[in-house]
Amino acid sequence: MGNTIENTLGMSDLTGKVAVITGGASGIGLGLAEEFIGAGMKVVLADIDEPRLRDVESRLTESGAEVATVVCNTTSEADVRWLGLATRVGSCGSRVVQQRGIKLGSVTLE
Ligand SMILES: NC(=O)c1ccc[n+]([C@@H]2O[C@H](COP(=O)([O-])OP(=O)(O)OC[C@H]3O[C@@H](n4cnc5c(N)ncnc54)[C@H](O)[C@@H]3O)[C@@H](O)[C@H]2O)c1
Repeated sequence: MGNTIENTLGMSDLTGKVAVITGGASGIGLGLAEEFIGAGMKVVLADIDEPRLRDVESRLTESGAEVATVVCNTTSEADVRWLGLATRVGSCGSRVVQQRGIKLGSVTLE
């Protein structure tokens, strides 16, 4: 058994699964995101630093990754609830999850 992210997580195939990563715009969170993308996962990056989140989203998307971003302060219960909702809706078809608006077909949740 190699030292892969699949082995670390005890899962055999991560392809197409969704990882939600708080603090995902830099440091350990971003490193994890890159590992997950490498394993074929889609990632939802949540971070309090919006400009950095946008930069990372552009870079990862340009490289072909499926990435959604949510501005979220994890010390705010409302923000974390929003992250959960945005992730569920985004996983149901639309991968467009931006700031506080979710675009799903013609419906926009605010
Ligand atoms: N770096 C280490 O060696 C190390 C070692 C052990 C534990 N840790 C812990 O792991 C965590 C991540 O470490 P890191 O070095 O990647 O940190 P970091 O300082 O690089 O932060 C990672 C990201 O978290 C975001 N963030 C900060 N506060 C936030 C909030 N309230 N809501 C949402 N996003 C927020 C930042 O904007 C940043 O993009 C920290 O809790 C740190 O204490 C780090």
